Amino acid sequence: MLEVTLLNQYYGGSHILRDVTLSVPEQKLTVLLGRNGVGKTTLLKCVMGVVPAKSGKIAWRGKPYQNLSTPARVAGGLAYVPQGRDIFPRLSVEENLIVGAASRPASGKIPERIYELFPVLRDMKHRRGGDLSGGQQQQLAIGRALMSEPQLLILDEPTEGIQPSIIRDIGRTLRQLVDEFGMTVLLVEQYYEFARELADHYWVMSRGEVVANGLGAEMEANGIRELIAV
Ligand SMILES: Nc1ncnc2c1ncn2[C@@H]1O[C@H](COP(=O)(O)OP(=O)(O)O)[C@@H](O)[C@H]1O
Ligand SMILES: [Mg+2]
Repeated sequence: MLEVTLLNQYYGGSHILRDVTLSVPEQKLTVLLGRNGVGKTTLLKCVMGVVPAKSGKIAWRGKPYQNLSTPARVAGGLAYVPQGRDIFPRLSVEENLIVGAASRPASGKIPERIYELFPVLRDMKHRRGGDLSGGQQQQLAIGRALMSEPQLLILDEPTEGIQPSIIRDIGRTLRQLVDEFGMTVLLVEQYYEFARELADHYWVMSRGEVVANGLGAEMEANGIRELIAV
């Protein structure tokens, strides 16, 4: 389980995360919802150690992570697909994937599994990352995160600006990672339908605080659609 306890974060004088406490059970898909600007990305950055939290605890499988460096968290099983994808546009698809394995003992090989999950990456492995469509770049970013063979995969709005057919493919792949490979997924989303279809569990943030949580199957009945509607 990922456990975040009483996490606080500030940007300058503004209090961005306010005693955020939530948990992400293993081998499930958990969705974190919330409107723009409520602190979702900031929370993920704190979990990955990209920005230090002011106070609070982060634990994965019972081990404290809040004082570890980002590479140590990756080596300890966490992987992160940032909002906006951040692939290397001038590197080939294959090179982008190899960079994702930098924390692993070098084999220089792309695990077959990644090309099976995303056949388009095999077809395009010699193309430059920047030449791929937005959806393909998102698949590349997920493939790159999988190169470190994570236990917990964290994704920040992977559907943002992506065509519906690829959104469906990404949804199927995330489900497969959980159901077939036993991975744990934490997905930040603003696209309600996508979240509701995939979620085993959900959490909702508003203005830096956790305001709701429950089972994915109960999202509709619990009025989560209305809660996050803009
Ligand atoms: N680097 C930063 N410096 C100052 N303020 C920031 C920075 N990043 C985000 N913020 C502010 O923090 C709040 C939460 O942002 P963010 O975590 O990106 O929210 P979300 O991902 O839910 O849209 C917003 O008000 C945003 O403007
Ligand atoms: Mg965000």
